This record gives sequence, C-alpha cells and structure tokens, in this order.
Amino acid sequence: MAPLSAPPFTQRITWKGLLLTASLLHFWNPPTTAQVTIEAQPPKISEGKDVLLLVHNLPQNLDGYFWYKGQMTGVQHYITAYAADRQIITSGPAYSGRVTLYSNGSLLIQNVTQEDTGSYTLEIIKRVGETRGVTGYFNVTLYSKPPKPYITINNLNPRQNKDVLAFTCEPQSENYTYRWWLSGQSLPVSPRVKRPIENSNLILPSVMRNETGAYQCEIRNRYGGIRSDPVTLNALYGPDLPSIYPSFAHYRSGENLYLSCFADSNPPAEYSWTINGKFQQSGQNLSIPQITTKHSGLYACSVHNSATGRRNSKSMRVKVSDWTLP
Ligand SMILES: *[C@@H]1O[C@H](CO)[C@@H](O)[C@H](O)[C@H]1NC(C)=O
Ligand SMILES: *[C@@H]1O[C@H](CO)[C@@H](O)[C@H](O)[C@H]1NC(C)=O
Ligand SMILES: *[C@@H]1O[C@H](CO)[C@@H](O)[C@H](O)[C@H]1NC(C)=O
Ligand SMILES: *[C@@H]1O[C@H](CO)[C@@H](O)[C@H](O)[C@H]1NC(C)=O
Ligand SMILES: *[C@@H]1O[C@H](CO)[C@@H](O)[C@H](O)[C@H]1NC(C)=O
Ligand SMILES: *[C@@H]1O[C@H](CO)[C@@H](O)[C@H](O)[C@H]1NC(C)=O
Repeated sequence: MAPLSAPPFTQRITWKGLLLTASLLHFWNPPTTAQVTIEAQPPKISEGKDVLLLVHNLPQNLDGYFWYKGQMTGVQHYITAYAADRQIITSGPAYSGRVTLYSNGSLLIQNVTQEDTGSYTLEIIKRVGETRGVTGYFNVTLYSKPPKPYITINNLNPRQNKDVLAFTCEPQSENYTYRWWLSGQSLPVSPRVKRPIENSNLILPSVMRNETGAYQCEIRNRYGGIRSDPVTLNALYGPDLPSIYPSFAHYRSGENLYLSCFADSNPPAEYSWTINGKFQQSGQNLSIPQITTKHSGLYACSVHNSATGRRNSKSMRVKVSDWTLP
C-alpha cells in the first residue's frame, strides 16, 4: 500500500485590512435652509483608499467655511478653508497633504491612514444677518476587518471510510465566528455551540466520495467576513465492482470482439484482461479482430487502485460458435 499522508497544508496569508466607517451626522439647521448633512462616500473604506466627506445642503451666499481636525475649532486644528469673496482655498496646520477641498464644501481625503481617524468639524461662516456657525462634527473611524484565514489539514488525500480528516481554520480566536464551505455550498455547522470557536475545526469522521471538493473557511467579526483560499480534498476510493460492455456473450467466428471495462475509482483504476485465467492485455478495452472458436472462455477484467490498495474484478463467459451452414 502506498504511503498516503500528505504534508499539512500551511499556506499562510496575513491580510491587514482596515475599514473606515463614517456615520452620517445631522447638525446645524439654519432656520431658512434645508438641513446641512455630511455623508462619507464610500461609507466603508479600507486603509489606503480615498473618502469624500460630502456636504449636502450647504446654504447659499456663504462667506466661507473651515474644516477642522477634531471636535473643536481653533487655528491649530484647522485643515483647510475656503474664502468665497476671493475664491481661494488655504491650508492650515492640520493639513496632511492628502486632502482636497472643493468649492461646494466637500472634503476629499486620499490614501486614508490611521492618523485620519477621529472627528472632523465643518465651520460655516456667514456674516450677513448670521453668526459664525459651528456646524458640529463628523467621525471617521478605522475598524479592523478579520485577516484572511487559511486552512490547515491533517491529510489531503484521505482514503474513503478509513481516514479521519480534521480541518482547522486559522487564526483561531474567540473574536471570530467560523463557517465552512464545500464547492461554494455552505456546510452546516452548529450555530448553537457555546463557544463559536469550536466551529474553527471541521472533522470528517470517515471521508466519503461526495465530500471531495474545494473547502473554504470563513471568519467573521462585527465589521465583516472573509473566506480563505480553497483547499481541494481528493478522497481516494474504489475501484468499485467493474462493469463490462457490451454484456452479450455470443459471437460468431470471424466477428470482431470489442469489450470495454469500467470501474469508478479515484485515482482511476489500472485495468487488465485475462482469458481463462491467462493474462491477455492491460488497458481498459479489449479488442480481438476476427475471433475464432478457440477464443471462447472466461473473460475477466481486473481493476486495481494502487492508492487505496484495493482490487476488484468481473468476469463473463464468451461463447464463439461457427456459422451453421444451411
Ligand atoms: C462637490 O464637488 C465634488 C468634486 O467636484 C463632487 O464629487 C461632489 O459630488 C460635490 N458635492 C455635492 C454635494 O454636490
Ligand atoms: C496616494 O498613494 C499613491 C501610492 O502610494 C501615490 O502614488 C499618490 O501620490 C498618493 N496620493 C496622495 C494625494 O498622497
Ligand atoms: C465620535 O467620536 C467621539 C470620540 O470617540 C465619541 O464620543 C462620539 O460619540 C462619536 N460620535 C459619533 C457620531 O460617532
Ligand atoms: C479579541 O478582542 C479583544 C477585545 O475586543 C482584544 O483585546 C483581543 O486582542 C482580540 N483577540 C484577537 C486574537 O484578535
Ligand atoms: C454525502 O453522502 C452522505 C450519505 O448519502 C450524506 O449523509 C452526507 O450528508 C453527504 N455529504 C455531503 C457533503 O453532501
Ligand atoms: C474504452 O472504450 C470506451 C467505450 O468505447 C471509451 O469511452 C474509452 O475512452 C476507451 N478507453 C481507452 C483507454 O481507450
């Protein structure tokens, strides 16, 4: 029997993913205008991406506005400002070099980093008939998505009904919930286990051939989920009892005999043919042109799977008769 244990699958991929979320904030409702709101686009963003803080319903006829880093105004916190009369944009001490202010008040932050997390305050300046209006603040927060998981497995080529197979989804942490997939279909894992981390292990007590396929695990936390790369499980089985086609067994001398043998097996079986116990040829199909009566006998197809060490065979009696002259 061939040795079957494969080295454990240990592809490790670490994936530093961070999500930036920003919640919509309603604030400062001047009596004569619609409510000013800020919206982050996109609302969730990974580190290194861009986020646009869109200002909606900015009142008309403003004298200008300031963006501040933090929940306070003050010259040391000022990032950038727009002066309407001269139509100029200026930058302040909190300017990172990665922000762009548009004349409609929206602020683009590029290549978002951890430093960009926190609150942003928009201050609207309207002198005529109004005061300086501090409009409130808006939070930009980076959240950690789970890292990309990977699967470790004790045996990549298990034998059917023989080997116990254990998959483990790494990294294992109480902070994650785990889910398993086989060829894109979700596998049932117990949602009621007291410790969801127990689902980081998938045990197949005796591998069946329908459990062959691509396995993936998925980990989730409150900020999202991510699946591992697939690991292909190749269950070794068979050969099953072979079948011989065609199954009719009476030939006339001079005819061509062609027999085909098939047995389900993984890996595919090796085939050989015997006639009356004597080796005839290897290969799945047996072909004898223009047979004669001396080809009558017991034909057997033998199959062997060297990976499972199993053998099987099927035989049929073939009768060849001479043409009966009228
Ligand atoms: C403001 O201008 C930017 C850049 O042109 C644009 O992407 C954004 O949609 C505008 N915001 C609003 C609220 O119109
Ligand atoms: C953002 O990062 C990319 C790649 O690192 C760089 O080419 C680009 O200049 C950066 N943009 C800004 C505004 O810093
Ligand atoms: C913004 O962050 C501050 C400081 O962490 C927190 O107190 C406040 O509740 C947050 N506001 C919103 C709207 O998320
Ligand atoms: C799990 O979460 C806790 C707090 O929520 C944190 O301190 C800890 O580092 C996390 N563990 C892992 C393995 O990520
Ligand atoms: C494989 O077949 C067995 C028996 O028919 C069944 O109990 C099991 O759920 C099947 N497994 C999968 C992954 O389809
Ligand atoms: C044997 O014959 C079958 C049926 O004709 C065919 O499908 C198969 O490919 C053949 N196998 C080989 C090894 O020639």
